[in-house]
Amino acid sequence: MTATSADIDRAVALLRRGEVVGLPTETVYGLAADASSDVAVARIFEVKGRPHGHPLIVHVADRDAIEGWAVDVPTPARRLAAALWPGPLTLILRRGPRTSPVATGGRDSVGIRVPDHPVALEVLRRLDGGVAAPSANRFGRVSPTTAAHVRADLGDDVELVLDGGPAEVGLESTIVSFLGEPTVLRPGGVPTEVIESLLGRPLAVAAPEDRSAPGTLPSHYAPAARVELVPAEDLAARCLELIAEGAEVGALAPHPVALPAGVVHLDAPDDEVEVARTLYARLREADRLGLDVLVAVVPAERGLGRAVADRLRRAAHPDR
Ligand code: TXA
Ligand code: MG
Repeated sequence: MTATSADIDRAVALLRRGEVVGLPTETVYGLAADASSDVAVARIFEVKGRPHGHPLIVHVADRDAIEGWAVDVPTPARRLAAALWPGPLTLILRRGPRTSPVATGGRDSVGIRVPDHPVALEVLRRLDGGVAAPSANRFGRVSPTTAAHVRADLGDDVELVLDGGPAEVGLESTIVSFLGEPTVLRPGGVPTEVIESLLGRPLAVAAPEDRSAPGTLPSHYAPAARVELVPAEDLAARCLELIAEGAEVGALAPHPVALPAGVVHLDAPDDEVEVARTLYARLREADRLGLDVLVAVVPAERGLGRAVADRLRRAAHPDR
């Protein structure tokens, strides 16, 4: 059930006391704490099991509210904020004095965004502050897109999870760094093409191995099932081989698809917005079904397809 006004008041009271709260956003659910408090932010790392030094994203209520959390905001960054906030875009800027250095892993830069979700925005307005929030999953696992996912992952470690319904975008924000030349550190909910057209120039893109976005590890977003990526034309043959080896096999592919008997079809809709929205629920479904291997067809690298391909590659990365 969607969070009530009383639930939102309770969340704000918990945040003021330095507690963590599960927070819906349009991308994925976050694990939020007061971004100005070293102690509150430290709780996030504890609950998530995330290594210290991995910086968190600060969320504020509107673009004017970034003052103090970030400083020296360049004009092109302001242009993106004006066009795309609230929305799934995180800007990496110089850290301002309000942001706890614990939230940025000791860096003098900060990732900041205005989430496009009525419950998150109401929490931020009533708090009259900012919250640091990573995705509300245990470190390295699949990000949660419903309140039930957060509960399943974090259980009693969070007192309150605000329910805002299933996340509309379904995967994380696009991260653009403005510390030097504008650079995409993580593809996400705003297609790179949209940002490039607003800036009137092509963007540099950090390689997946690049650690300038610390925490964007090559292996991430992984279900327990092993994920294998194959070209569409090899899907059926690869599934047959795995079945012959005795594996429980699922195929993440657009419908309709001809699959060997015994293979579970997890639909990856042939529409980039839909596929992004449903991707993480499908990865969780693979685990619920007890699959050993999930064979996935990577979508075309345009629009949101780029972020979906990025997440699938990280889920399939062997180092995990
Ligand atoms: O959509 C999202 O961005 C979600 C929702 C909850 O807002 N949050 C999210 O947080 O994905 P998280 O912690 O799972 O990923 C944040 C990423 C980190 O991997 C890190 O690389 C990058 O943001 N980041 C944050 N601050 C940074 C900084 N100062 N410099 C470089 N990268 C930073
Ligand atoms: Mg995450």
